[in-house]
Amino acid sequence: MTLVAERPDLSTARAGQNPARIEAETPSAALPPPLLRVSDLTLEYRTPERVVRATHRVGFDVYEADRFILLGPSGCGKSTLLKAIAGFIPPVEGSITLGGDVVRGPGPDRIVVFQEFDQLPPWKTVAQNVAFPLRAAGLVGRREAEARARHYIDKVGLTPFADSYPHQLSGGMKQRVAIARALATQPKVLLMDEPFAALDALTRRKMQEELLILWEEVRFTLLFVTHSIEEALVVGNRVALLSPHPGRVRGEYNCHEFDLTSVGSDVFQAAVQRLHSRLFETDPETSVPAAPAR
Ligand SMILES: Nc1ncnc2c1ncn2[C@@H]1O[C@H](COP(=O)(O)OP(=O)(O)OP(=O)(O)O)[C@@H](O)[C@H]1O
Ligand SMILES: [Mg+2]
Repeated sequence: MTLVAERPDLSTARAGQNPARIEAETPSAALPPPLLRVSDLTLEYRTPERVVRATHRVGFDVYEADRFILLGPSGCGKSTLLKAIAGFIPPVEGSITLGGDVVRGPGPDRIVVFQEFDQLPPWKTVAQNVAFPLRAAGLVGRREAEARARHYIDKVGLTPFADSYPHQLSGGMKQRVAIARALATQPKVLLMDEPFAALDALTRRKMQEELLILWEEVRFTLLFVTHSIEEALVVGNRVALLSPHPGRVRGEYNCHEFDLTSVGSDVFQAAVQRLHSRLFETDPETSVPAAPAR
């Protein structure tokens, strides 16, 4: 496969660019530091009976305006990683830094969009839903919150529904509201946990397309979780492939050249095939037994 290169040295990659090219053209001293750095991150759940290790020494760097994908099988710790980056789960070992500062808890600089359609309070209209976090976090005053909400509602094409309630919207429309709500807070990084997984295939494709158009306009930094290889290649410019439970990074791939128009082409299918093989191969070195009960 030529167009998706396995590059363990992707730490020099930046949005939409080929890291090899960047390395060739830019002295390394001039490279910006990563926006988000995850280093040797081990995460565990502790219950009275046992300790479940969700990720084992995971590390990756996300640069400003990256569309960075965490791709891995069910149970490999993708959602746990997002929760830790959002500040809800402290590391057992390793660290998370955002803009050079260690993440120690939740904050408005990281917003999560989830898979579920019921993430919007049903008693608030679309406009109120989008404006609410801005007011709640004390980011802006009422007028500015309303103006910003209208702006982002327009960006996701929902202006005619600004005064509708969530139950009056389709699943795809609710996800658009959730995306508008997240972007309105202008987070440093937008975290998305399988946001389109519960949508039908056509709507999912449309939402991927819209997300990419939105990214072209706003250039936000995206950390996107999926277990769909196709979605990873279409939505992302870089992909970190995680091993099965407990998740470890198996490899990083550069895939900025793909978009929805590439689906079905030979190079795209070859890339899918390669990731598929890598995803399902057994790798004794990366299979770490779950931590014993303590
Ligand atoms: N609250 C919890 N308590 C104990 N173990 C948990 C908890 N949440 C998740 N786990 C375990 O941690 C591991 C990682 O779970 P996680 O939800 O992060 O996986 P995932 O990659 O997001 O999977 P999926 O693709 O199915 O959403 C799994 O083994 C899971 O059983
Ligand atoms: Mg999950």
